[in-house]
Amino acid sequence: MATSYGSLVLCLCVCAFAVEILNGQGVPYTEKYYTQIVDHFNYLSYGNKTFQQRYLIQNKWWKRGVGPIFFYTGNEGAITAFWEASGFVTDIAPQFEALVVFAEHRFYGKSLPFGDDSFKSPEIGLLTMEQALADYAVFLTDLKKQLSATNCRVISFGGSYGGMLTAYMRFKYPNIVDGGIAASAPIYMLDPSHPRDFFFPIVSNDFNQAMPGCQDNIKKAFSQLDNMAAQGQSGLSDISRMFNLCKPLADNAAFKHLLGWVRNAFTFMAMLDYPYKASFEAQLPANPVKAGCMAISSASDVVTGLAAAAGIFYNGTAGTLKCYDIDAEFIECADPTGCGTGNNAKAWDYQACTEIKLPAGSNNVTDMFPVLPFTTDMRNQYCQKTWGVVPRDEWSYVQFFGENIKSTSNLVFSNGNLDPWNGAGVTKDVSDTVRAVWVQGGAHHLDLRHWNQADPIGVWKAREFEKSNIRQWINAP
Ligand SMILES: *[C@@H]1O[C@H](CO)[C@@H](O)[C@H](O)[C@H]1NC(C)=O
Ligand SMILES: *[C@@H]1O[C@H](CO)[C@@H](O)[C@H](O)[C@H]1NC(C)=O
Ligand SMILES: *[C@@H]1O[C@H](CO)[C@@H](O)[C@H](O)[C@H]1NC(C)=O
Repeated sequence: MATSYGSLVLCLCVCAFAVEILNGQGVPYTEKYYTQIVDHFNYLSYGNKTFQQRYLIQNKWWKRGVGPIFFYTGNEGAITAFWEASGFVTDIAPQFEALVVFAEHRFYGKSLPFGDDSFKSPEIGLLTMEQALADYAVFLTDLKKQLSATNCRVISFGGSYGGMLTAYMRFKYPNIVDGGIAASAPIYMLDPSHPRDFFFPIVSNDFNQAMPGCQDNIKKAFSQLDNMAAQGQSGLSDISRMFNLCKPLADNAAFKHLLGWVRNAFTFMAMLDYPYKASFEAQLPANPVKAGCMAISSASDVVTGLAAAAGIFYNGTAGTLKCYDIDAEFIECADPTGCGTGNNAKAWDYQACTEIKLPAGSNNVTDMFPVLPFTTDMRNQYCQKTWGVVPRDEWSYVQFFGENIKSTSNLVFSNGNLDPWNGAGVTKDVSDTVRAVWVQGGAHHLDLRHWNQADPIGVWKAREFEKSNIRQWINAP
């Protein structure tokens, strides 16, 4: 601890002159680094080895030493992206006179404990939720000391996996975090008894609700694709042409990959079905699900339409792609809902192979997608082959409480009716202090985003509810 404390002092002095970075929404932050312990739970293996953990900070609204600390528990990506996608925190910080701090999750973005070697074995073994939570707890404790803020309340925020981490901060470190807003956090997923086929049915339902006949068109398109593929090479080259692929489909395995690529696009359009144009994960138009449905119904045939709909996700609102490189744009991994690409995707794949068991694949019975299963056996084999690990689902269950979360307190769980993750979210009040709020008209953590004039009334209500809970946690004796 002494070492990290010392270098924080150094950093605060050195970084005092750091330039504020203006983000897309015009709310600036200062980027800093914290000297973090690599292994909190073993005094020998990595000794006192440390790494530089990135965090973003904004103190311009803070009532110094008195106002609360609004802390974002970074999730599976660069923290700068979550700052941009979580404008609710900076929208309300002035009225709470809060200090805003967003910390980056180890092994993501620039917070790589072993640099380029971070994704090797055994180094990647240091990527666990327990280590990440300990990072946040140690960092907050140190930061409060540094800023003479030891009496300041800490309110945690997080969306998606970040929302799970916010909940877990309350589970594990109620001494450090006073309350949390866990937006679209599918925590019940880690209970082995929770159904695992919740995800793709909700995605399908979103498309069904967005426009009459949409789901039928999509099913028809997948069915026609199947028939074409069954014709062998000529069918595959027709498909390659209709989808504008850079490299023609060579065989049935490549065709399966294309199906996964399409499903991935529909999955993200459903998750990010915001009522306005947004650039989180992709450059999407307003109401992308509806846009996808329109692309299909206005095309000359449903297969061309399906390709155009997938293009909304991969080619974006101002697309520049000449053709689709489906091997680069979609990588199969231990998360059937998609890992993304690059280093962040590797780290997430590892987490999906260890502590976080994600939903099952699609089945063409309870959902509109082709049969692309991902069973427990398939996961075990994939994880053994890819990372040399066998998942231990009972461990996450024991560690993170499963569905029995009555022992915790001061949490608000929000879930949107459009969000496929609501199937594993906390959608009913658990106690007087563990509350659920339903965001009608909301996709994936819409409530955490910046205020927007296109916001549905449901998200206004949810934000008011969250603010009133935060107020109670801050004012509690
Ligand atoms: C790590 O521990 C060793 C042995 O106690 C000590 O000599 C060394 O200075 C420490 N390194 C750092 C970076 O604190
Ligand atoms: C999905 O199931 C339906 C009805 O059982 C079938 O007609 C259709 O071909 C299937 N689609 C795919 C892509 O397997
Ligand atoms: C991507 O979008 C641009 C602009 O709309 C379009 O010209 C291009 O053909 C699209 N790319 C693909 C691969 O469909």
